[in-house]
Amino acid sequence: MTVQQTLSIIKPDAVGKNNIGDIIARLEKKGLNIVAAKMLHLSKEQAEQFYAVHKERPFYGELVQFMTTGPVLAMVLEGEDAILQNREIMGATNPSEAAPGTIRADFASSIEENAVHGSDSPETAGFEIPFFFTQEEILKRTR
Ligand code: CMP
Repeated sequence: MTVQQTLSIIKPDAVGKNNIGDIIARLEKKGLNIVAAKMLHLSKEQAEQFYAVHKERPFYGELVQFMTTGPVLAMVLEGEDAILQNREIMGATNPSEAAPGTIRADFASSIEENAVHGSDSPETAGFEIPFFFTQEEILKRTR
């Protein structure tokens, strides 16, 4: 077991439905600690850069459009195996395939409006965390 950090985003659909508190409660209950958080409304350019890895995918344009429809809550989560843990709590990308009790099963409405994003590997987290946060904005949990 390793302590890791991962990037979590509560997407515009879930923010718009006031599901922020319910989603964070699930993360915290599973032992993931928020060590940074920031609410922001992504520009088209920011969304394009953040999802650049999907540039060639047919859904890229719609994904960028959706991610700019309203504010998001970006967070850094820290904990044992945080990357995999967070993805398990989130559930499958497509809510119709997400296990019961996962965030996407309960709060997502489609594969596109799927409530949350989470880094899928240490390499991805290494790109996604500094995309939103400076080192100074990521805090130590001293208690
Ligand atoms: P996310 O975990 O943020 O990573 C990429 C996003 O693309 C994904 O969640 C989905 O919201 C979105 N997306 C839209 N259509 C698809 C698709 N067909 N396959 C995978 N991801 C998709």
